[in-house]
Amino acid sequence: MAEKLILGIETSCDETAAAVVDRGRQVKSNIISSQINLHREFGGVVPELASRKHLELLDHVIGRALKKAGTDFSQLEGIAVTYGPGLIGSLLIGIVAAKTLAWALKIPLIGVNHIMGHIYSNLLEHPDLKPPLLCLTVSGGHTDLLYAPEWGQYQILGRTRDDAAGEAFDKVARFLGLGYPGGPAIERIAESGDPEKYSLPHPDLGSDRYGFSFSGIKTAVINLAHNLEQREGQIPEADIAASFQKTVVDILLERVAAARQDYPVEQVLLAGGVAANRYLRSRLEKMLKEEGASLYYPSLEYCTDNAAMIAGAGYFLLEQGQVSSLDLDAAPSLKL
Ligand code: KG4
Ligand code: ZN
Repeated sequence: MAEKLILGIETSCDETAAAVVDRGRQVKSNIISSQINLHREFGGVVPELASRKHLELLDHVIGRALKKAGTDFSQLEGIAVTYGPGLIGSLLIGIVAAKTLAWALKIPLIGVNHIMGHIYSNLLEHPDLKPPLLCLTVSGGHTDLLYAPEWGQYQILGRTRDDAAGEAFDKVARFLGLGYPGGPAIERIAESGDPEKYSLPHPDLGSDRYGFSFSGIKTAVINLAHNLEQREGQIPEADIAASFQKTVVDILLERVAAARQDYPVEQVLLAGGVAANRYLRSRLEKMLKEEGASLYYPSLEYCTDNAAMIAGAGYFLLEQGQVSSLDLDAAPSLKL
Protein backbone atom coordinates (compact mmCIF):
# COMPACT_ATOMS: atom_id res chain seq x y z
CA MET A 1 0.00 0.00 0.00
CA ALA A 2 1.30 3.46 -0.84
CA GLU A 3 2.56 5.46 2.08
CA LYS A 4 0.60 8.43 3.37
CA LEU A 5 2.99 10.35 5.52
CA ILE A 6 1.92 13.03 7.97
CA LEU A 7 4.42 15.22 9.78
CA GLY A 8 3.24 15.90 13.34
CA ILE A 9 4.43 18.90 15.37
CA GLU A 10 3.89 19.27 19.13
CA THR A 11 5.05 22.29 21.14
CA SER A 12 2.20 22.83 23.60
CA CYS A 13 4.28 22.66 26.78
CA ASP A 14 7.88 21.73 27.46
CA GLU A 15 8.62 19.07 24.85
CA THR A 16 9.68 20.13 21.36
CA ALA A 17 8.54 17.21 19.25
CA ALA A 18 8.16 16.16 15.61
CA ALA A 19 7.20 12.80 14.14
CA VAL A 20 6.44 11.16 10.81
CA VAL A 21 3.59 8.65 10.84
CA ASP A 22 2.35 6.55 7.93
CA ARG A 23 -1.43 6.23 7.48
CA GLY A 24 -2.08 7.29 11.05
CA ARG A 25 -0.70 4.12 12.58
CA GLN A 26 2.85 3.31 11.68
CA VAL A 27 5.40 5.50 13.41
CA LYS A 28 8.37 6.17 11.11
CA SER A 29 10.06 8.53 13.54
CA ASN A 30 9.23 10.16 16.86
CA ILE A 31 11.72 12.81 17.96
CA ILE A 32 11.25 14.46 21.35
CA SER A 33 13.57 17.10 22.70
CA SER A 34 12.65 17.53 26.32
CA GLN A 35 13.25 20.81 28.12
CA ILE A 36 12.97 19.18 31.54
CA ASN A 37 16.53 20.06 32.52
CA LEU A 38 15.99 23.70 31.58
CA HIS A 39 12.88 24.03 33.78
CA ARG A 40 14.00 21.76 36.63
CA GLU A 41 15.85 24.49 38.51
CA PHE A 42 12.62 26.55 38.61
CA GLY A 43 10.56 23.60 39.84
CA GLY A 44 8.13 23.84 36.92
CA VAL A 45 7.68 25.04 33.35
CA VAL A 46 8.56 28.71 32.76
CA PRO A 47 6.39 29.69 29.76
CA GLU A 48 8.74 32.38 28.38
CA LEU A 49 11.73 30.04 28.45
CA ALA A 50 9.69 27.23 26.91
CA SER A 51 8.66 29.21 23.85
CA ARG A 52 12.16 30.55 23.28
CA LYS A 53 13.55 27.02 23.47
CA HIS A 54 10.91 25.71 21.04
CA LEU A 55 11.95 28.38 18.56
CA GLU A 56 15.58 27.38 18.90
CA LEU A 57 14.98 23.62 18.61
CA LEU A 58 12.00 23.06 16.33
CA ASP A 59 13.75 23.28 12.92
CA HIS A 60 16.36 20.82 14.04
CA VAL A 61 13.81 18.44 15.56
CA ILE A 62 11.73 18.47 12.34
CA GLY A 63 14.88 17.79 10.30
CA ARG A 64 15.76 14.84 12.51
CA ALA A 65 12.23 13.43 12.28
CA LEU A 66 12.34 13.49 8.46
CA LYS A 67 15.82 12.01 8.34
CA LYS A 68 15.04 9.21 10.78
CA ALA A 69 11.90 8.39 8.74
CA GLY A 70 14.08 8.22 5.60
CA THR A 71 11.95 10.81 3.84
CA ASP A 72 11.85 14.48 2.92
CA PHE A 73 9.31 17.32 2.69
CA SER A 74 8.24 16.35 -0.85
CA GLN A 75 6.81 13.03 0.36
CA LEU A 76 4.47 14.49 2.99
CA GLU A 77 0.66 14.44 2.60
CA GLY A 78 -0.10 16.85 5.40
CA ILE A 79 1.19 18.77 8.43
CA ALA A 80 -0.56 18.14 11.74
CA VAL A 81 0.05 20.49 14.64
CA THR A 82 -1.23 20.89 18.19
CA TYR A 83 -3.23 24.15 18.34
CA GLY A 84 -4.44 23.80 21.95
CA PRO A 85 -4.74 23.44 24.85
CA GLY A 86 -1.36 24.59 26.10
CA LEU A 87 0.88 27.58 26.66
CA ILE A 88 0.06 30.25 24.11
CA GLY A 89 3.64 31.24 23.27
CA SER A 90 4.71 27.62 22.91
CA LEU A 91 1.69 26.66 20.79
CA LEU A 92 2.34 29.58 18.43
CA ILE A 93 5.87 28.41 17.62
CA GLY A 94 4.56 25.05 16.40
CA ILE A 95 1.58 26.57 14.60
CA VAL A 96 3.66 29.13 12.69
CA ALA A 97 6.12 26.44 11.61
CA ALA A 98 3.28 24.13 10.52
CA LYS A 99 1.49 26.87 8.57
CA THR A 100 4.68 27.88 6.80
CA LEU A 101 5.38 24.31 5.76
CA ALA A 102 1.81 23.61 4.66
CA TRP A 103 1.75 26.82 2.60
CA ALA A 104 5.17 26.27 1.01
CA LEU A 105 4.53 22.59 0.25
CA LYS A 106 0.89 23.21 -0.80
CA ILE A 107 -0.39 20.39 1.43
CA PRO A 108 -3.16 20.38 4.05
CA LEU A 109 -2.67 21.89 7.49
CA ILE A 110 -4.44 19.92 10.23
CA GLY A 111 -4.92 21.52 13.64
CA VAL A 112 -5.12 18.85 16.35
CA ASN A 113 -6.53 19.06 19.87
CA HIS A 114 -3.74 17.91 22.20
CA ILE A 115 -6.14 15.83 24.33
CA MET A 116 -7.45 14.06 21.26
CA GLY A 117 -3.80 13.33 20.43
CA HIS A 118 -3.31 11.68 23.84
CA ILE A 119 -6.38 9.50 23.30
CA TYR A 120 -5.17 8.66 19.82
CA SER A 121 -1.75 7.59 21.13
CA ASN A 122 -3.37 4.26 22.01
CA LEU A 123 -4.03 3.55 18.32
CA LEU A 124 -0.37 3.74 17.39
CA GLU A 125 0.23 0.41 19.07
CA HIS A 126 -3.27 -1.05 19.06
CA PRO A 127 -4.32 -0.17 15.51
CA ASP A 128 -7.40 -2.40 15.56
CA LEU A 129 -8.99 -0.80 18.62
CA LYS A 130 -12.64 0.04 17.92
CA PRO A 131 -15.22 1.91 20.01
CA PRO A 132 -17.38 1.78 22.07
CA LEU A 133 -14.88 2.55 24.78
CA LEU A 134 -14.15 4.65 27.81
CA CYS A 135 -10.99 6.73 27.98
CA LEU A 136 -9.35 8.22 31.06
CA THR A 137 -6.93 10.99 30.09
CA VAL A 138 -4.69 11.97 32.99
CA SER A 139 -1.97 14.51 32.31
CA GLY A 140 -0.35 17.57 33.81
CA GLY A 141 -3.17 19.76 32.54
CA HIS A 142 -6.18 17.45 32.27
CA THR A 143 -8.19 14.77 33.94
CA ASP A 144 -10.98 13.77 31.58
CA LEU A 145 -13.16 10.68 31.60
CA LEU A 146 -14.97 10.23 28.32
CA TYR A 147 -17.18 7.78 26.51
CA ALA A 148 -16.66 7.29 22.78
CA PRO A 149 -19.48 5.40 20.99
CA GLU A 150 -17.61 5.95 17.65
CA TRP A 151 -14.26 7.42 16.64
CA GLY A 152 -14.66 11.17 16.49
CA GLN A 153 -17.68 11.20 18.84
CA TYR A 154 -16.78 11.94 22.42
CA GLN A 155 -19.04 12.44 25.37
CA ILE A 156 -17.22 13.94 28.34
CA LEU A 157 -18.49 12.20 31.47
CA GLY A 158 -16.29 13.98 33.98
CA ARG A 159 -13.37 16.32 34.34
CA THR A 160 -11.46 17.86 37.18
CA ARG A 161 -12.86 20.86 39.00
CA ASP A 162 -9.48 22.09 40.12
CA ASP A 163 -6.03 20.49 39.79
CA ALA A 164 -5.32 17.84 37.18
CA ALA A 165 -4.02 14.48 38.41
CA GLY A 166 -0.49 15.12 37.10
CA GLU A 167 -0.54 18.63 38.55
CA ALA A 168 -1.28 17.13 41.98
CA PHE A 169 1.70 14.77 41.59
CA ASP A 170 3.89 17.72 40.57
CA LYS A 171 2.74 19.93 43.46
CA VAL A 172 3.09 17.24 46.13
CA ALA A 173 6.53 16.29 44.79
CA ARG A 174 7.59 19.90 44.84
CA PHE A 175 6.43 20.27 48.42
CA LEU A 176 8.31 17.12 49.44
CA GLY A 177 11.40 18.42 47.64
CA LEU A 178 11.43 15.52 45.19
CA GLY A 179 12.02 17.63 42.09
CA TYR A 180 10.35 18.13 38.75
CA PRO A 181 8.54 16.48 37.04
CA GLY A 182 6.83 15.14 40.12
CA GLY A 183 5.00 12.08 38.79
CA PRO A 184 8.02 9.86 38.13
CA ALA A 185 9.69 11.10 41.36
CA ILE A 186 6.64 10.19 43.49
CA GLU A 187 6.31 6.83 41.77
CA ARG A 188 9.96 6.02 42.45
CA ILE A 189 10.00 6.94 46.15
CA ALA A 190 6.55 5.40 46.75
CA GLU A 191 8.00 1.98 45.94
CA SER A 192 9.72 1.94 49.32
CA GLY A 193 6.76 3.41 51.22
CA ASP A 194 3.62 2.02 52.85
CA PRO A 195 0.51 3.04 50.86
CA GLU A 196 -1.77 2.21 53.82
CA LYS A 197 0.15 4.31 56.32
CA TYR A 198 -1.86 7.52 56.05
CA SER A 199 -5.46 7.89 55.05
CA LEU A 200 -6.17 10.95 52.93
CA PRO A 201 -9.60 12.39 52.13
CA HIS A 202 -11.57 11.45 49.03
CA PRO A 203 -13.39 14.44 47.52
CA ASP A 204 -17.13 14.61 48.06
CA LEU A 205 -18.62 15.76 44.77
CA GLY A 206 -22.22 15.02 45.66
CA SER A 207 -24.21 13.57 42.79
CA ASP A 208 -21.38 14.12 40.27
CA ARG A 209 -20.38 10.47 39.80
CA TYR A 210 -17.59 11.06 37.34
CA GLY A 211 -16.05 14.36 38.40
CA PHE A 212 -12.59 14.77 39.87
CA SER A 213 -10.96 17.08 42.37
CA PHE A 214 -7.39 16.80 43.57
CA SER A 215 -6.62 20.07 45.30
CA GLY A 216 -8.07 18.87 48.64
CA ILE A 217 -5.76 15.85 48.69
CA LYS A 218 -2.79 18.05 47.93
CA THR A 219 -3.67 20.34 50.85
CA ALA A 220 -4.22 17.33 53.14
CA VAL A 221 -0.75 16.01 52.22
CA ILE A 222 0.84 19.35 53.01
CA ASN A 223 -0.94 19.59 56.40
CA LEU A 224 -0.04 15.99 57.24
CA ALA A 225 3.61 16.57 56.41
CA HIS A 226 3.73 19.75 58.54
CA ASN A 227 2.16 17.93 61.51
CA LEU A 228 4.51 14.98 61.23
CA GLU A 229 7.51 17.24 60.95
CA GLN A 230 6.50 19.07 64.13
CA ARG A 231 5.75 15.87 66.01
CA GLU A 232 8.55 13.64 64.77
CA GLY A 233 11.12 16.08 63.52
CA GLN A 234 11.13 14.73 59.97
CA ILE A 235 8.85 14.04 57.05
CA PRO A 236 8.41 10.34 56.14
CA GLU A 237 8.52 11.06 52.41
CA ALA A 238 8.19 7.52 51.08
CA ASP A 239 5.11 6.70 53.19
CA ILE A 240 3.48 10.01 52.32
CA ALA A 241 4.23 9.58 48.60
CA ALA A 242 2.87 6.02 48.63
CA SER A 243 -0.30 7.03 50.52
CA PHE A 244 -0.85 9.99 48.20
CA GLN A 245 -0.35 7.90 45.07
CA LYS A 246 -2.73 5.23 46.38
CA THR A 247 -5.43 7.81 47.16
CA VAL A 248 -5.21 9.38 43.69
CA VAL A 249 -5.35 5.95 42.06
CA ASP A 250 -8.27 4.84 44.29
CA ILE A 251 -10.22 7.89 43.12
CA LEU A 252 -9.43 7.31 39.45
CA LEU A 253 -10.51 3.67 39.77
CA GLU A 254 -13.74 4.60 41.55
CA ARG A 255 -14.70 6.91 38.69
CA VAL A 256 -13.90 4.34 36.00
CA ALA A 257 -15.93 1.72 37.89
CA ALA A 258 -18.89 4.13 38.14
CA ALA A 259 -18.66 4.93 34.42
CA ARG A 260 -18.58 1.24 33.52
CA GLN A 261 -21.80 0.69 35.43
CA ASP A 262 -23.54 3.22 33.20
CA TYR A 263 -21.54 2.49 30.03
CA PRO A 264 -20.69 -1.20 30.25
CA VAL A 265 -17.99 -1.21 27.56
CA GLU A 266 -15.30 -3.86 27.43
CA GLN A 267 -12.46 -1.55 26.51
CA VAL A 268 -10.94 1.17 28.62
CA LEU A 269 -8.08 3.37 27.43
CA LEU A 270 -5.62 5.21 29.58
CA ALA A 271 -3.82 8.22 28.10
CA GLY A 272 -1.66 11.20 29.10
CA GLY A 273 1.51 11.55 31.12
CA VAL A 274 0.14 9.98 34.31
CA ALA A 275 -0.68 6.86 32.26
CA ALA A 276 3.06 6.20 32.56
CA ASN A 277 2.49 5.38 36.24
CA ARG A 278 2.94 1.62 36.68
CA TYR A 279 1.02 1.47 39.95
CA LEU A 280 -2.02 3.08 38.26
CA ARG A 281 -1.73 0.78 35.26
CA SER A 282 -1.51 -2.39 37.27
CA ARG A 283 -4.34 -1.51 39.68
CA LEU A 284 -6.66 -0.46 36.85
CA GLU A 285 -5.72 -3.49 34.78
CA LYS A 286 -6.48 -5.79 37.70
CA MET A 287 -9.84 -4.17 38.44
CA LEU A 288 -10.95 -4.36 34.81
CA LYS A 289 -9.74 -7.91 34.36
CA GLU A 290 -11.81 -9.02 37.34
CA GLU A 291 -14.81 -7.44 35.63
CA GLY A 292 -14.07 -9.07 32.26
CA ALA A 293 -12.89 -5.86 30.56
CA SER A 294 -9.50 -4.88 29.10
CA LEU A 295 -7.22 -1.94 29.65
CA TYR A 296 -5.14 -0.37 26.87
CA TYR A 297 -2.36 2.13 27.40
CA PRO A 298 0.46 3.46 25.25
CA SER A 299 4.09 2.58 25.87
CA LEU A 300 6.06 5.14 27.83
CA GLU A 301 7.33 7.19 24.89
CA TYR A 302 3.74 7.77 23.71
CA CYS A 303 2.27 8.52 27.18
CA THR A 304 3.97 11.83 27.77
CA ASP A 305 3.84 14.59 25.17
CA ASN A 306 4.98 13.50 21.71
CA ALA A 307 4.24 14.34 18.08
CA ALA A 308 3.48 10.80 16.84
CA MET A 309 0.10 11.02 18.57
CA ILE A 310 -0.53 14.37 16.86
CA ALA A 311 0.38 12.99 13.42
CA GLY A 312 -1.84 9.94 14.11
CA ALA A 313 -4.86 12.02 15.13
CA GLY A 314 -4.10 14.40 12.23
CA TYR A 315 -4.36 11.59 9.69
CA PHE A 316 -7.72 10.60 11.12
CA LEU A 317 -8.97 14.20 10.79
CA LEU A 318 -7.58 14.46 7.25
CA GLU A 319 -9.44 11.30 6.26
CA GLN A 320 -12.63 12.93 7.60
CA GLY A 321 -11.90 16.09 5.59
CA GLN A 322 -11.36 18.11 8.76
CA VAL A 323 -8.47 20.29 7.63
CA SER A 324 -7.65 23.75 8.94
CA SER A 325 -7.22 27.01 7.09
CA LEU A 326 -3.98 28.97 7.16
CA ASP A 327 -5.45 31.38 9.69
CA LEU A 328 -5.48 28.65 12.35
CA ASP A 329 -4.84 30.29 15.72
CA ALA A 330 -3.62 28.97 19.06
CA ALA A 331 -6.41 27.99 21.48
CA PRO A 332 -4.74 27.83 24.92
CA SER A 333 -7.92 26.71 26.75
CA LEU A 334 -9.26 24.39 24.06
CA LYS A 335 -11.52 21.62 25.38
CA LEU A 336 -12.33 18.33 23.78
O1 KG4 B 1 0.85 14.45 29.04
P1 KG4 B 1 1.99 15.15 29.67
O2 KG4 B 1 3.38 14.85 29.18
O3 KG4 B 1 1.82 16.70 29.52
C1 KG4 B 1 0.58 17.32 29.60
O4 KG4 B 1 -0.16 17.31 28.58
O5 KG4 B 1 0.27 17.80 30.71
O6 KG4 B 1 1.86 14.90 31.23
C2 KG4 B 1 2.80 15.37 32.13
C3 KG4 B 1 2.34 14.99 33.52
C4 KG4 B 1 3.17 15.63 34.62
O7 KG4 B 1 2.29 16.17 35.59
C5 KG4 B 1 3.95 14.46 35.19
O8 KG4 B 1 4.27 14.61 36.56
C6 KG4 B 1 2.99 13.32 34.96
O9 KG4 B 1 2.43 13.57 33.70
N1 KG4 B 1 3.68 12.02 34.97
C7 KG4 B 1 3.47 11.06 35.89
C8 KG4 B 1 4.38 10.00 35.60
N2 KG4 B 1 5.11 10.37 34.50
C9 KG4 B 1 4.66 11.60 34.13
N3 KG4 B 1 2.61 11.02 36.92
C10 KG4 B 1 2.64 9.90 37.69
N4 KG4 B 1 3.49 8.88 37.50
C11 KG4 B 1 4.37 8.87 36.46
N5 KG4 B 1 5.20 7.86 36.28
ZN1 ZN C 1 -0.02 16.15 27.15
